[in-house]
Amino acid sequence: MTNNDRNPTTTDAGIGVASDEHSLSVGPDGPILLHDHYLIEQMANFNRERIPERQPHAKGSGAFGHFEVTHDVSAFTKAAVFQPGTKTDTLIRFSSVAGERGSPDTWRDPRGFALKFYTSEGNYDMVGNNTPVFFVRDPLKFQHFIRSQKRRADNGLRDHDMQWDFWTLSPESAHQVTWLMGDRGIPKTYRHMNGYSSHTYMWVNASGQRFWVKYHFKTHQGIEFLTQAEADQIAGSDSDYHRRDLFNSIKHGDYPRWTLHMQIMPFEEAATYRFNPFDLTKVWPHADYPLQEVGRLTLHRNPTDFHTEIEQAAFEPNNLVPGIGISPDKMLLGRMFAYADAHRHRIGVNYKQIPVNKPQCPVFSYSKDGPMRVENVSDPVYAPNSKGGPAADPERYPESATWAANGEFIRSAYTLRQDDDDFGQAGTLVRDVMDDAARDRLVSNVVGHLKADVTKPVLERAVEYWRNIDQATGDRIAKEF
Ligand code: NDP
Ligand code: HEM
Repeated sequence: MTNNDRNPTTTDAGIGVASDEHSLSVGPDGPILLHDHYLIEQMANFNRERIPERQPHAKGSGAFGHFEVTHDVSAFTKAAVFQPGTKTDTLIRFSSVAGERGSPDTWRDPRGFALKFYTSEGNYDMVGNNTPVFFVRDPLKFQHFIRSQKRRADNGLRDHDMQWDFWTLSPESAHQVTWLMGDRGIPKTYRHMNGYSSHTYMWVNASGQRFWVKYHFKTHQGIEFLTQAEADQIAGSDSDYHRRDLFNSIKHGDYPRWTLHMQIMPFEEAATYRFNPFDLTKVWPHADYPLQEVGRLTLHRNPTDFHTEIEQAAFEPNNLVPGIGISPDKMLLGRMFAYADAHRHRIGVNYKQIPVNKPQCPVFSYSKDGPMRVENVSDPVYAPNSKGGPAADPERYPESATWAANGEFIRSAYTLRQDDDDFGQAGTLVRDVMDDAARDRLVSNVVGHLKADVTKPVLERAVEYWRNIDQATGDRIAKEF
């Protein structure tokens, strides 16, 4: 290729520049000149290339695709995105939680499974994880939990003592910690794991009938995992292993797929179910609420600019469309605030005008001005008005995803029910779901983790914690110290 075949380099204003290599200087050996605007533009833009990384879930990868409805679930939701035959464009971002933007993909950690549906009724975001449960059940503990998994204040190191200190003082973490220390704690790739809403959400059908639901995206690639030794080796040789795998598989036409299944609980059953169905540390047993198929997610297009399409992607569980609502899960209620606030800080108040976050349906909002607004606002800029501006439509958009609540304002745990305990489902996972080989790997993973600088009092609590989950597993762990 000769220089004549290429576009000429320009400044950001489109003005051609004379050199890609030499700054303007006073003679070949003299000082450089401040009025060399192109040099200054290069240095100034470079200094501003990074936006803040996400607080949790900083390292991730994403791709575009579509979701096709294959089964009729209109009896449960009126959401357009889930009506028979509907096909909707999607964006997904997978992530790890505790590591920074450049951290190795194969660290033991839950993985994010954040999905944006560009629906005809506005963006719907299903911001889940590859696990069906979580470590805590009150949003006041989330920040403390994440800090315990990240780095110490004094030396900037990650610290297993801090992690186990938090976990063992928070027994509600037992189910998620068991899951994390098991095989699924390090998926082989992003393609070889399921995605779960984890939370309970509400679905509302066209007649206004309400249901409690949980989402399960089951991988077509099969569940596969890395052993701790494999993951450690890969962390040293290719820290972007999962990102590379996702990008290359889509590039080569090997499109990853997941089938969405729902667990659906009739609205009234929540009040009398044997444990609190909104507690994020618990699953609903399949035997009680079997999976019902909805449709298929396919990823078929890679980003072409990672920064604009993935780093600036903004997912928020509060993006809900008619027919889908939240539940009394306190964690989910807390998340209704956290995400949009994070985006305003990380990307700026007008982040929804960035193409990847822009709805594919008309927007008639009264939001106005702010840094980096690129879309024109027209009058009137207030409501109510008599000038033909948009007007809310309670007939079309009734406040239907609701439930009744009353009581004094208090700070308290959920009311306990017959089967509400912190260790039961974790024990079931160890005893009934894992086989002997999986249990051996569980013990080995826990022992390896605890041997990394965990102090004696925390270690003693950790042994007790595991005995509460499963006596035999706790005893085996105790023998190693
Ligand atoms: P089931 O026997 O019907 O379900 C067990 C489920 O465990 C499987 O369907 C699979 O989930 C999942 N699983 C298999 N191996 C592992 C592993 N190494 N780590 C984590 N999960 C694994 O029983 P129940 O529904 O009564 O649940 C029993 C236990 O299974 C629960 O206490 C929970 O720990 C775990 N589990 C339950 C899920 C649920 O939504 N009910 C979901 C995931 C785990 P999948 O089919 O989603 O791949
Ligand atoms: C990311 C807060 C619980 C899944 C984030 C971010 C914040 C946050 C602030 C960064 C957002 C950004 O900068 O773009 C919280 C709070 C929680 C909570 C306050 C509880 C009170 C959960 C739970 C799940 C989850 C339970 C899964 C079920 C995710 C995912 C991302 C994320 C997948 C990454 C999204 C992306 O890829 O951009 N969370 N979170 N979070 N969170 Fe949460």
